[in-house]
Amino acid sequence: MSARICVIDTDPGTDDALALWLALASPELDVRLVTVAGGNAGLDRTLPNARAIVGLSGRAVPVVAGADRPLLGAFTAEPRVHGADGIGGVALPEGAPAAPGIAADSIRAVLRAEERVTLIGIGPATNLALALASEPALAARVEEIVLMTGAWAEGNITPSAEFNAWSDPESLAVLLGCGRPVTLATLELTAQALVTPARLATLEAAGGGACLAAALAILQSVPASRRFGFRGFPLHDPCAVAWLLAPQIFATRRVHAAVETHGTARGRTVIDRWERSGQPSNALLLDALDADAFFSLLGDRLVELP
Ligand code: BDR
Ligand code: CA
Repeated sequence: MSARICVIDTDPGTDDALALWLALASPELDVRLVTVAGGNAGLDRTLPNARAIVGLSGRAVPVVAGADRPLLGAFTAEPRVHGADGIGGVALPEGAPAAPGIAADSIRAVLRAEERVTLIGIGPATNLALALASEPALAARVEEIVLMTGAWAEGNITPSAEFNAWSDPESLAVLLGCGRPVTLATLELTAQALVTPARLATLEAAGGGACLAAALAILQSVPASRRFGFRGFPLHDPCAVAWLLAPQIFATRRVHAAVETHGTARGRTVIDRWERSGQPSNALLLDALDADAFFSLLGDRLVELP
């Protein structure tokens, strides 16, 4: 089977770094482009982080700058989890310069050139939404949009909103309404991918090169989460990539998903898991994950990188 052509839109981000390395290490994916938004840190940090992460992998994938703020509303970073620099203060060798242009144009260029493209969104959805909203006919070429976003229960940045959805809900609404298959890795799914000291020790024992060493240093920088009784922290973004590599380790269900754009619940995703809204499904919800299989996959792939 030929590799899936994909674009990764990201805001590195500790877990984004792991997601990028997982994708770049995986022969099932043909990563044509990495686009970057401000998110976990400002674009002035996330762009060099993305360049460095791709550079360390040894893969020649263009990295292009995108939005430094959401379509509407104010930009807010998340330094409590990711550190002021976005990758927990871990120094990486500088990557190649950013490719010229701007994210939305570059995403559209890939869509014009290829008939089936998978879009992987692991940050605020601004760049992907701008690409599709500015040339809607290109949506026909989107094979699948896989997003780490949202939550069907409580949020992690407000009581009801998950960080990526809350960062740019209008853009997420564009993706949910574009008519192409959307797959959601929500907080309830990523909670099952808990990084624990035991799992870190297993990864450490795997050997590997500079990427795995950097991945471990980044993971060690992330504080254990109060929400999880300080047992560890969820590894959000690699879950979205893992879906494309090993769908058999997930349980799924079809849902209708929407996002609030107003009021105190701004950024809340309303996910109808039990067909109560009467609305047709517009998304595939990743409901459950075999966590041991997920961490084995992560280790097996990262060990293959330089
Ligand atoms: C999401 O928000 C970011 O902080 C993480 O990188 C992930 O994409 C989790 O809510
Ligand atoms: Ca992210």
